[in-house]
Amino acid sequence: MKFNRLAVTAILGACVFFSTAHADVKKGQKLYLKACKECHGNGTKGAAMHSQAEWKKLFDNNSQGMVDAHKGTPGENKMSPSFFEKNGEHIFDFLHEYANDSGNVPSC
Ligand code: HEC
Repeated sequence: MKFNRLAVTAILGACVFFSTAHADVKKGQKLYLKACKECHGNGTKGAAMHSQAEWKKLFDNNSQGMVDAHKGTPGENKMSPSFFEKNGEHIFDFLHEYANDSGNVPSC
């Protein structure tokens, strides 16, 4: 629905977390909220699971580390190689930007 999209954009736009982030980070944030939040909590919490170097390792090699991390968990079906082929790059951008050693602390 058009109205909802606009409303969401307005809310997100008001937030420093989003307004300071560049395009791919924003895209990754949206993907994170859609694909990961239900299990790992909000984006701040999710990104802080790891350092920048650790995220890099997890997303290396077409996100093999991420696929492996979900083997045998309730996230296994969703976190497939084809999911990451399509979305991994953007989600990585977001998680890397706000990793626990990034120095970027979202304000909301
Ligand atoms: C359906 C639930 C579910 C979804 C969706 C999901 N995960 Fe997970 N994830 C888990 C479970 C369960 C584990 C294994 C237990 C744990 O370490 O928390 C896990 C493990 C992980 C780990 C390894 C934890 C560690 O300490 O190294 C990372 C990183 C991770 N998930 C990130 C993500 C990201 C990013 C997304 C979205 C792209 C995602 N997960 C989507 C349930 C999920």
